[in-house]
Amino acid sequence: MGIETSCDDTSAAILKNYSVLSNVTANQLIHERYGGVVPELASRSHQENIVHVVNSAISKANVELKDIDAIAFTQGPGLLGSLLVGASFAKSFALARKIPLIAVHHMKAHILAHFIDDAGDKKPEFPFLCLTVSGGHTQIVKVSSAFEMEIIGKTIDDAAGEAFDKAAKMFGLSYPGGPLIDKFAKIGNPKAFRFSKPKIDGLDFSFSGLKTSILYFLNAESKKNPRFIKENLSDLCASVQQTIIEILIEKLKSASKQTGIRQIAISGGVSANSGLRMALKNLEKDGFETFIPKFEYCTDNAAMIAVTGRFLYEENKFSDQSVSAQARLKW
Ligand code: KG4
Ligand code: ZN
Repeated sequence: MGIETSCDDTSAAILKNYSVLSNVTANQLIHERYGGVVPELASRSHQENIVHVVNSAISKANVELKDIDAIAFTQGPGLLGSLLVGASFAKSFALARKIPLIAVHHMKAHILAHFIDDAGDKKPEFPFLCLTVSGGHTQIVKVSSAFEMEIIGKTIDDAAGEAFDKAAKMFGLSYPGGPLIDKFAKIGNPKAFRFSKPKIDGLDFSFSGLKTSILYFLNAESKKNPRFIKENLSDLCASVQQTIIEILIEKLKSASKQTGIRQIAISGGVSANSGLRMALKNLEKDGFETFIPKFEYCTDNAAMIAVTGRFLYEENKFSDQSVSAQARLKW
């Protein structure tokens, strides 16, 4: 069984080896009205949801408590109050059931989601590159095995998901804005507006400049026409999405050139973006082999925690009851 509570989704999954029997997630809609995740409310919602979500995962998987051989949970990184709920639940469950407890790194789990049986029509082979893009992280990782992962590029300021969410907020859209930008971008013109792209050496990313450039642009245009955003919403969404995708894809190509690795995967919440998925797929024309996980394994889910737990189980990498949640868990 896997448990995920790092941010605002309470999720539990049951896997038989690498195959998903159930993957149940309760989304916390309460944050929408605040324009972002409120940590205190998130942890309280996890407390309310967790038992119900676990019960539902067990019944959907059609198993009994005694069939569960081990429990994996997200140790970090994430919001401390949220992580604590999942960690406490998993520790108690392991103790009560006398089964191994497995602590999992959330970002590594996003990558290993590729190895869930039904994640995609093919699996990447080691080594491969993985662009891991979520609300809090943007990284290019060289994945040499399930346990050997090296970050070769990362953001020096905002994450790609944050760039989507902050742009959406400026457009007056609700939180999380990424999926809404994706939706409006589908009917917009990606070349309607140009936003400057950062010039950062090497494989690192920067997204804070883009945020400022959108803000200045909107302020100037809204002075001329107060209805500018409303009248151009789809084109604005398509243009911002296109800029973020170009920044990501350019660095991925450089990473491939630098490492000589031509198998490229994406993971994390932003990999649910339809434009990014299409842009990655298009790289196949240039001879890259690409891997895009099924939609439900992109955003936060417990199946990816359980599959990571499965890899660690194989190696007897268990934790004891002294393990604690860590908001800034190191790589
Ligand atoms: O991995 P994730 O679910 O949670 C974290 O670990 O952060 O990622 C959440 C992020 C949010 O910023 C959200 O706006 C973004 O992923 N996201 C998207 C899409 N779906 C989720 N961004 C762009 N397009 C999407 N379709
Ligand atoms: Zn995540």
